[in-house]
Amino acid sequence: MTADEVRKRFLDFMKARGHAIVPSSSLVPDDPSVLLTTAGMQQFKPYYTGEANADKDFGSKNTATVQKSFRTSDIDEVGDETHLTFFEMLGNFSFGGYFKKEAIELAHEFITKEMKLPISYVTVFSGDSKVGVPKDEESRGIWNAFGISDVREEGMSDVFWGPTGSSGPCGPTTEIYCRNAAGQDVEIWNIVFNQYFYPGSREELNSGAAGKALKPLETPGVDTGMGLERLAMVSQGKKNIFETDLFLEPFKLFMLAPSGVDLRSGRIFADHVRGSIFLIADGVRPSNKNAGYILRRLIRRAVVHSRKLTGEDQGGGTALSLSNLRQAVESGISYYGGTYSDLLTNKQIIQNIFDEEVAKFVKTLDVGLKEFLKLYPELQVISQTLKPGEKMQVQKSHVLKEISGETAFNFHQSYGLTIDIIRDLAREGLHQVNEKEFEEAFKKHQEISRAGQERKFGGHGLLLDTGELKAGNEDELKIVTRLHTATHMLQSALREVLGPEVHQAGSDITAERTRFDFTFPRKLIPEEIKKVEDI
Ligand code: SER
Repeated sequence: MTADEVRKRFLDFMKARGHAIVPSSSLVPDDPSVLLTTAGMQQFKPYYTGEANADKDFGSKNTATVQKSFRTSDIDEVGDETHLTFFEMLGNFSFGGYFKKEAIELAHEFITKEMKLPISYVTVFSGDSKVGVPKDEESRGIWNAFGISDVREEGMSDVFWGPTGSSGPCGPTTEIYCRNAAGQDVEIWNIVFNQYFYPGSREELNSGAAGKALKPLETPGVDTGMGLERLAMVSQGKKNIFETDLFLEPFKLFMLAPSGVDLRSGRIFADHVRGSIFLIADGVRPSNKNAGYILRRLIRRAVVHSRKLTGEDQGGGTALSLSNLRQAVESGISYYGGTYSDLLTNKQIIQNIFDEEVAKFVKTLDVGLKEFLKLYPELQVISQTLKPGEKMQVQKSHVLKEISGETAFNFHQSYGLTIDIIRDLAREGLHQVNEKEFEEAFKKHQEISRAGQERKFGGHGLLLDTGELKAGNEDELKIVTRLHTATHMLQSALREVLGPEVHQAGSDITAERTRFDFTFPRKLIPEEIKKVEDI
């Protein structure tokens, strides 16, 4: 069954059982306390709490969606058999229409009868005295009645959902596991029973924040989520999600890893290209913060893995890896455009954003990688001698190093190597990055620049903030626009005097001054500076 058929089967199944089909919401949610849409229930939050009325808005208390979802929390696991950043989630929801029995019945029927797949086992909530939620005996009983006897108990971290954002509905869940062709039991479907409302975040709930307690919802609701890629993997008899049509159709040619490059590279490349396409189509633009920064991280890491896949590291040309990337973007848009037509409408924009971001990054990438490998030459040697699929053997003579957070952050600031890229490089030699230190350095830098900005603009919002250009009002906007042009002229003058070795490394422009950072292998002499200034 192709993924297209799976989506259709699911929606038809739910429609025939009284669900209104609702389109996916954007990856950029209305809820300002959440960066990106991580689950299908997000667009329905007000229906659980009674602030909105589903009968009125959808003509039914029950809905079903195929929701575009994005989880940064899984970014480091991408490359294994089952994890992704962007994924599609099949879900059915009820706001007072049905509860546990019907929800489990629907899921059981869909998996075992409609998809004809055996269930390996299911999980139910073990109970937690700290948050005051009892063991879910009812769900166990319902599963047993369907002949499922392998029912395993799990706790808060696995089978208790929500709240998403700064507050929201939440409750215990029951999960369905099915076996893939590699013999792994994989979580396919998570069925949430939204019985409570919590007036704080998930972190506060876990830590038992003072004065905050779960309140029973007036009408308990159901929220289910099933990963399309995982369901496709099981139903297509594949060993991992990257062997399903969802990845082979658009990205097969681009995922092929040459000898010496491990499989993860192609998978990360495909996942990140796919995720970026969808983020850009939903209006996210590369920047240094929030969702824009997530997009930037995806694109940059895709560039680095594209180099590996086309052998650029071993002397293949930059042009090849960039054309590989461009073709993958085009192919992804055309395949997914069949289901999400807005990708086709936005094709040109998506390609332009990719091109611009990539062009900016490749200027500093080569030097950055070279400098990095100068510090850790063993990483290069190891990555080049590994055969496909071969795991690193730790030799006695091989010293595992910790890459300090400060070093990692310097590479980030000077050459745009993001933490994901440094982590990937480190991993090749089983080195470790001190992530905590990196986070601290990153936060400190953000605070310093925020404080500077607030001094400049008296804490008022900025009219324009692209990361490089900042303006607080219309007059300043005119000034920074001129200064932006001036940086281009400065770069051109530098190149005229010093040659093509001059590379832009960033710029930072406010109404008071412009700063233009560039790389050049040596210090300039006074005569050269004079010449540049004269031009
Ligand atoms: N909200 C739950 C999840 O995303 C079920 O949809 O797993």
